[in-house]
Amino acid sequence: MRARVAPVGPVVRGILGAAALVMAAGAACAAGLAPTYGPRVVPDTPNVIATRPGSVPGDGHWQSLFVLHCSGCHGADGAGHAGSVPDLRGNLGHFMSTPEARRFVLQVPGVAQARIADHEVAELTNWMLRRFSPSTVPAGFRPYDATEVRDARRERLADVSGERRRIVAALRERGIEVR
Ligand code: HEC
Repeated sequence: MRARVAPVGPVVRGILGAAALVMAAGAACAAGLAPTYGPRVVPDTPNVIATRPGSVPGDGHWQSLFVLHCSGCHGADGAGHAGSVPDLRGNLGHFMSTPEARRFVLQVPGVAQARIADHEVAELTNWMLRRFSPSTVPAGFRPYDATEVRDARRERLADVSGERRRIVAALRERGIEVR
């Protein structure tokens, strides 16, 4: 009599498949390839809640990014803290009036060092202008884009508050009353 080997049924195949996956995951962990969670350090790399370049998500997305990365210092409403963190409300748009001032906005440490990809910083900043300071944005404002952000973030400001004072003085000379 010939012994018959029962064919492996789908359930058994499924279990074997799952076991192989678990083993593969274990090997990946051992090799230091385990997935890591949380924002990545490389600024140009989208983080876990990043969107694809070219897509235009609703403002809720930018609000979430602001809450996650910025509101700890700036407050969810952009009010900041008198004497230390500037109020973005009814003021930020004034910085769009000269090339140096709009560049400065991308070079403050909170923006320059944010763990957010360049195209997202661009859209986040455009959103901040819409959200906190629409009436101060000059006519003909050209929205920020990824290239401008990448360029500005490459350069580190040695003296942030000194640069801000210089920029505010220059804007005031043009009759633009920045706080
Ligand atoms: C650790 C606190 C902190 C965090 C986090 C932070 N900021 Fe700031 N931000 C400041 C301070 C303080 C200033 C004033 C400039 C300075 O001295 O650095 C400032 C200045 C600014 C300015 C210039 C406003 C002005 O009137 O000069 C903008 C725009 C800005 N931050 C946006 C952001 C955005 C966007 C994020 C998040 C991606 C962010 N900041 C995260 C503390 C912070």
